[in-house]
Amino acid sequence: MSARVILPLCLVAIGIWLAAVASAEPAVEPISEKLASADAGVGEKAFAQCSACHVAKPGAQVTVGPNLWNVVGRPVAAQSGYDYSESLKQVSGEWDFERLNVYLYDPKLLAPEGRMPFPGVKSTAERAHLIAYLRTLSDAPAALPEAGTASAGVASVGDDPQQWQGLPPGPGREEVFYRCKACHSLMIVKQQGLSRAAWDQSLEWMVEEQGMTPIEDPATRNRVLDYLATHFGLD
Ligand code: HEC
Ligand code: HEC
Repeated sequence: MSARVILPLCLVAIGIWLAAVASAEPAVEPISEKLASADAGVGEKAFAQCSACHVAKPGAQVTVGPNLWNVVGRPVAAQSGYDYSESLKQVSGEWDFERLNVYLYDPKLLAPEGRMPFPGVKSTAERAHLIAYLRTLSDAPAALPEAGTASAGVASVGDDPQQWQGLPPGPGREEVFYRCKACHSLMIVKQQGLSRAAWDQSLEWMVEEQGMTPIEDPATRNRVLDYLATHFGLD
């Protein structure tokens, strides 16, 4: 190819790249100022949707995704022993709060050809709670950004219109919401009417055939089954 062809092509490529960079980041509502009022305990529950693919313990092995222990402040794509996508490896710098915010909103904004098969968390409050929790997964958690004005606070769970995707209130709702939306829409759950025994089998199937992390704690598992049978049971 002659220089006369290559140069315009490069300019077009740079143009596309600039457009992507310029449009990607501002589309996502920033969370830094909200972190001081976010609730890491709520974030821990929301992390159920991540534990389908990630562990977050010191020295733990990588699973489907890299170990998320110490992820805040860590250089991007730097967990040893994990085979990252080229797309994520091309992102330079560290996982600061806002970069995690963009990635968790939609992984493709940061790594268009990346391999995290996760649709993203569209609720700003939920991302703030999640990132507040990720920050605690460390021996020396990063300093929190300055708290913003009062209006920058996080909506409590339940005030956010995008929260719950129409799941009715009741014990077990949080567990079902975070755990089940990790892989598919909650429509799939809401449109079923199954007996408790059939829900039980359905959870087994999700673990054995679809790779869902089993619900180890019997009390939690019962709460999930009660919730499903009560709200999406046989009438
Ligand atoms: C269905 C599996 C899956 C789910 C669910 C998932 N991830 Fe991932 N995650 C991955 C994979 C695979 C990668 C590696 C991506 C790549 O190489 O492009 C990854 C990469 C990451 C990274 C980059 C880490 C590094 O070392 O650079 C972060 C941060 C992350 N995930 C956070 C999360 C959080 C937080 C959640 C829950 C809100 C989540 N992920 C849900 C599979 C998943
Ligand atoms: C690790 C991924 C994963 C998780 C987590 C998960 N599912 Fe699923 N589930 C799947 C896949 C894959 C399918 C089948 C694909 C489809 O129909 O879209 C499915 C299908 C279903 C179906 C439809 C089954 C049918 O016969 O049509 C129901 C009901 C369901 N899931 C309920 C749940 C509930 C309840 C939870 C939370 C406790 C959950 N799932 C969590 C992966 C998962």
